[in-house]
Amino acid sequence: MRRLDGKVAIISGSGRGIGRELAFKLAGQGASVVVNDLDEAPANEVVTQIRDAGGTATACVGDVTADEFGERFVRTALETFGGLDIIVNNAGYTRDGVIQKQTDEQFQAMLDVHVSAPFRILRAAAEPLRTMARKEAAEGREVIRKVVNISSMAGTHGNAGQINYSAAKSALVGMTKTLSKEWGRLKVCVNCVAFGIIDTRLTQPISGSEASIPIGGQPLHTGIPSAVRDALLDSVPLGRAGTAREAADSIYLLCVPESDYISGQVLVVSGGLSL
Ligand SMILES: NC(=O)c1ccc[n+]([C@@H]2O[C@H](COP(=O)([O-])OP(=O)(O)OC[C@H]3O[C@@H](n4cnc5c(N)ncnc54)[C@H](O)[C@@H]3O)[C@@H](O)[C@H]2O)c1
Repeated sequence: MRRLDGKVAIISGSGRGIGRELAFKLAGQGASVVVNDLDEAPANEVVTQIRDAGGTATACVGDVTADEFGERFVRTALETFGGLDIIVNNAGYTRDGVIQKQTDEQFQAMLDVHVSAPFRILRAAAEPLRTMARKEAAEGREVIRKVVNISSMAGTHGNAGQINYSAAKSALVGMTKTLSKEWGRLKVCVNCVAFGIIDTRLTQPISGSEASIPIGGQPLHTGIPSAVRDALLDSVPLGRAGTAREAADSIYLLCVPESDYISGQVLVVSGGLSL
């Protein structure tokens, strides 16, 4: 018996990086996974790889900041797989800058993707979760479901140059704690994972050939200047960045039955870095 047989998971931003590794992990443990990404090709590739390995997945391509996205994401799980047990709010990116150089639009973009989008996804899930919980209670069954919101140490500790991102990731902590109080009676554990430095395109050392994320038609360069990255890594007790797989494993811990009595918590996953 795999750990997540019969469970249905939705993971935003799972075409790349941490979300992608999590999609493989949850599917490998028997969950049916709805893979979302802004970009169609990577989302479809993850679905294909899961299916090729004998797992179950479908894609729900789209921008999580679109008004109707939350409803569509939740509906995809319910209509395709007949349930919803695990919600991971992972999609995101950074648009750094010191406060005096940040535009309103740049600040708002981080709130849109890291706060409003998870809020809408969770709000869309509220009624289905309530209906399922009511039915299970009437049958005398307790089924524990999971929400994991992906935050950052920029949100828990602050980070120079990221006032927009840190404000948004901090808001996600508040949302996590509030929802754990609202949804306990629905038997939903709501937790947050705050990462330090994980090796993905977001944290790659910036070089001549920087990756870019087209958001709203704008190519946004990603990565951290090499000197800043090296200085940060010097202060990580484990001496290196985490891998996307290690990051996904930490989220997985909050999705399996062994964490059924853990709710309202922020798990900092940073190789010991405490800033
Ligand atoms: N990598 C790190 O060190 C680190 C540290 C702290 C927090 N995080 C958080 O982890 C999460 C995953 O980041 P990652 O490092 O795997 O980055 P990544 O860029 O490798 O993957 C993120 C994925 O999200 C998708 N995405 C971005 N905006 C989207 C949108 N509006 N709608 C749908 N999909 C969208 C991207 O296309 C991408 O495929 C993010 O929320 C990020 O803020 C990462």
